[in-house]
Amino acid sequence: VREPDLAGRHVVVSAGGTREPLDPVRFLGNRSSGKQGYALARTAAARGARVTLLAANAALPDPAGVDVVPVGTAVELREAVLRAAADADAVVMAAAVADFRPATYAGGKIKKQDGQEPAPIALVRNPDILAEVSGSRARSGQVVVGFAAETDDVLANGRTKLKRKGCDLLVVNEVGERKTFGAEENEAVILGADGSETPVAHGPKEALAETVWDLVAERLGRTDPS
Ligand code: PMT
Repeated sequence: VREPDLAGRHVVVSAGGTREPLDPVRFLGNRSSGKQGYALARTAAARGARVTLLAANAALPDPAGVDVVPVGTAVELREAVLRAAADADAVVMAAAVADFRPATYAGGKIKKQDGQEPAPIALVRNPDILAEVSGSRARSGQVVVGFAAETDDVLANGRTKLKRKGCDLLVVNEVGERKTFGAEENEAVILGADGSETPVAHGPKEALAETVWDLVAERLGRTDPS
């Protein structure tokens, strides 16, 4: 049995994938199931943390003892993250967030027009939640962790992303149509802003989650819980 090394800490975890609506029927989405984020929430609760889980469209049972806040879009997730992060010791962004959303929302179902080409879908940029949380640090000593879902040049892209987002730790995992999304297992390299690299071998998503919390607890160890 693990020590409750996160007792007295409040941690915020995002999980799942945002959905950006086009009309009342359709959305732009991604393949995240929420399993990695839920594993992070469960393991943090087992280590004694108070956990707020911001769940974007995940069809998974609520983990016991965890405060679950359902969200839909990236804009909703941003509001929920900023609210929960105000008194958080750590924020872990495992959700797959859409970088863009449709520029307009059609109040009624978009119809096919006979003999007409389909209209292009104009997109606008979504806020970068991880970069904002990393830049603002609602609380001193707050540890911010991001994930990087990459399909190629995985580590090189991860290193660039770590600098761009400004987080303390970045969990770099490879994804594909049938890789990592929805799977029970994952493997990753966790990059630290201090130059550290922690490889995590292929195994259950809980095992990767435990290593993330080990690194977070190590960094929090330098501050007292309040
Ligand atoms: O849910 P599962 O099926 O278990 O799959 C797990 C997972 C593959 C979704 C997960 O392990 C993962 O990699 N999550 C991050 C997915 C993602 O959005 O990666 P990204 O490289 O596009 O984004 C980098 C980081 O910035 C992420 O922490 C993301 O939450 C954050 N971000 C991205 C865009 C944006 N507008 N705002 C953000 O905060």
